[in-house]
Amino acid sequence: MPKFDVTTAPRHEAKVGNQWWRSGVIYQIYPRSFADANGDGIGDLAGIRSRLGSLAALGVDAVWLSPFYRSPQKDAGYDVSDYCDVDPLFGTLDDFDAMLTAAHSLGLKVLIDLVPNHTSDQHKWFQAALTGGLVEVGGAKLAARDLYHFKPGRGVAGELPPNNWLSLFGGPAWSRIRDENGEPGDWYLHLFDSSQPDLNWANPAVQAAFEEILHFWLDRGVDGFRVDQPHAMAKAAGLPDHPDVERAGAGFIEGEAAPPMWFQPEVHPIFRRWRAILESYPGERAMCGEAYVLPLSLMAQWVRPDEFNQTFNFRFLDSEWNAATLFANINESFEAFDAVGAPSTWVLNNHDVIRHASRFGGNYGRATASDGIGPNSPQPNAATGLRKARGATMFMLGLPGASYIYQGEELGLPEHTTLAEVFRQDPTFARTGGERVGRDGCRVPLPWEAGAGDANGFNQTGEAWLPQPEIYRAYSRDQQDGVAGSTLELYKQALHLRRNLRLGEGSFAWLPEFTRDEVLGYRNGDVLVIHNFGNAQVTLPAGEVVLSSLLGMQTGHSLAPDQTVWLKLHT
Ligand code: GLC
Repeated sequence: MPKFDVTTAPRHEAKVGNQWWRSGVIYQIYPRSFADANGDGIGDLAGIRSRLGSLAALGVDAVWLSPFYRSPQKDAGYDVSDYCDVDPLFGTLDDFDAMLTAAHSLGLKVLIDLVPNHTSDQHKWFQAALTGGLVEVGGAKLAARDLYHFKPGRGVAGELPPNNWLSLFGGPAWSRIRDENGEPGDWYLHLFDSSQPDLNWANPAVQAAFEEILHFWLDRGVDGFRVDQPHAMAKAAGLPDHPDVERAGAGFIEGEAAPPMWFQPEVHPIFRRWRAILESYPGERAMCGEAYVLPLSLMAQWVRPDEFNQTFNFRFLDSEWNAATLFANINESFEAFDAVGAPSTWVLNNHDVIRHASRFGGNYGRATASDGIGPNSPQPNAATGLRKARGATMFMLGLPGASYIYQGEELGLPEHTTLAEVFRQDPTFARTGGERVGRDGCRVPLPWEAGAGDANGFNQTGEAWLPQPEIYRAYSRDQQDGVAGSTLELYKQALHLRRNLRLGEGSFAWLPEFTRDEVLGYRNGDVLVIHNFGNAQVTLPAGEVVLSSLLGMQTGHSLAPDQTVWLKLHT
């Protein structure tokens, strides 16, 4: 089949007037790095509230907050010790309510992060499990160990882990505890850090407890959830060995049978119940799964009409930035998601991957397979990276469906690529002895006002849990606000046009004359979106250029390398 076979490629019909989550732009807030009101160096809910106006001005529809729950912060809050309270680092439940009210009054929806695969080892259930105690869940007293995966080890004295599973963060997925008498005891499962024990989702008590958690936050008025690692929740009965750790490591091989810890079918009834809970509330509540399930035809089962409203499109996030890959991946997305009536989502950044302004400035491979950039890694080319990143985002934001953007990308913020080892906090760094530098480089506090304190307006004290690199000053929001051609103005313009032209609800079809290695173009209603992947100028068709990813190209009628334009047809 030819690389760019437009005749067999899917088309997508417009879906005007549907629920917000089908077409909205959702902005990810990473609370510890967004804005810090109390000046302790870690962002907080009051800081978020004070800066929400700038997100409304940016033109996003919703925000998604990464975890702010009580947590020892071993994995930046993805290790939750109390799902129904705010960690004092971030404020109080009252601060949460005030933030939520402020967001709603600005017309912003609020999604929060639900972390169901694992708790923190400081969670009261796990603490009770360590001593072999009982816990009360939903009025019943239960053996706490049954809420997790505890097993005796293999080997003569149980000295070997119960199976061959590996942790995504490096090393084995099992840790051994000591019994009360100090003797080595059973092992517990953790697909992530040893401080993140996996819950046993086959246990109805775990299921019931999480339904209560959903109610707790929905009653407070949240508009929904981003669900962490839902594809890990159910494990095959008996926890058999991974059939091929040599090739798959902690993961899976696409196209082969799912290994016992990934996307087991028992999760689906759970998500159906969650969806029913969301729908029992007024308004349009939604849940988005961080489901790393591939190919997308399999992922489609997760977004059937009574399951997740949407899932992240990791296929798109992982696309190498070339025409043939994007052509195939966008086709696969529309085919899979349209088949079940779900919106496709589009995403280029989050708190787990190298920022695209740096990723596209070097050779760092697939986004989700990359492990950060350290001072000893090859350094990205900032100018190339930013030019490509702006082009990529403008190409993405013209697509119908829901789009996700990650805090700071609207500033063109690069990765912190020279962060010293002493600051590294991602457990991946320690678990691999520094071999994988980890994800801290994309999590550095945001610069708001250049030169305001040492942290450029992140707070008033200059404290920062990760230090900003010197270059962040130049990327500060106040340096870009109202400045023609800045990345911030480009994002604003794109988001406002997207809303006014209803592109999120729009249609999709490739432009046959613009589908080749050097250029890719599609049509959404009356708008043509075209990106130049080649090294030569590309002549544009007739029409009004309403958006350009490069400054000074608004009137020219050819497309420079790495440039994206939105061109409105005269109708
Ligand atoms: C998700 C989060 C990531 C976290 C992991 C374990 O992938 O995005 O930050 O480390 O789950 O909870």
